[in-house]
Amino acid sequence: MKANKIDPSKLATNTYEKIAQIYATQYFDDLTDIPYIDKLLGKLQPGSRILDVGSGPGQFAKYMLHKGFSVDGVDFSKQMLAIARNKVPDVNFSFMDMRSLDFADHSFDGLLVAYSLIHIPSVEIPKTLTGFNRVLKPGGYIEIIAQKGKTDIIIDEPFMPSEKMFFNFFSKEKLKKFLEEAGFEIEYQREAKSPDPEVGSDTIIYTIAKKKLGYDLYLADQIDRNNLPSIDVEISKSREIS
Ligand SMILES: C[S@@+](CC[C@H](N)C(=O)[O-])C[C@H]1O[C@@H](n2cnc3c(N)ncnc32)[C@H](O)[C@@H]1O
Repeated sequence: MKANKIDPSKLATNTYEKIAQIYATQYFDDLTDIPYIDKLLGKLQPGSRILDVGSGPGQFAKYMLHKGFSVDGVDFSKQMLAIARNKVPDVNFSFMDMRSLDFADHSFDGLLVAYSLIHIPSVEIPKTLTGFNRVLKPGGYIEIIAQKGKTDIIIDEPFMPSEKMFFNFFSKEKLKKFLEEAGFEIEYQREAKSPDPEVGSDTIIYTIAKKKLGYDLYLADQIDRNNLPSIDVEISKSREIS
């Protein structure tokens, strides 16, 4: 019999459909991460365009909008999007999977990925980060906020133990390596104690990285090489020179 394959990220977002309101009530007014989000905003020009990836109830999108930035949000849970659209009507929130962002190359100056990359399985992190790099302008910045801890685990959802939740936590070193391999250079990394360790981690990792200059050219070059027309070439033996 064939085993049923589940998409771990879909498992997570199905659970968010059920806990979206509880999550919003708990976190919409939580200011703990604001000093770290200000670090990202401080690297961007006033008014520049930011994508909030896995925007949840939209609290950070709202904050960045009020700071004068142009903000879009994407999330893969319809309930989260409904809450965000209701609470922050001036931001455009779209239903989208962060693993395949539907935006043109170089659309954004900055990306905020707060507590959402933790729902992408390890094997899909490289392509997800390469996609983030693609939608950033050259020299653009990304901030990832993620818990430190075990990778690729399914546990009872802390807000609703009858439901399951998929988490993929990180270490500073692992996240740095993933980002560097996807064409970013790290500018800032710090660990801090988590205010709510019940999610399976007592530490938060804040990481800000910059899109490496020339990375688009490197990628384009790789793609061109992969698409070279194949030609049959007969290589004749070179004559030995006596
Ligand atoms: C822990 S919440 C974080 C929400 C918000 N960024 C915050 O910091 O409060 C994780 C969010 O990521 C979203 N998410 C999970 N997998 C996703 C995916 N593949 N694409 C887009 N969003 C996703 C969930 O629906 C949920 O809203």
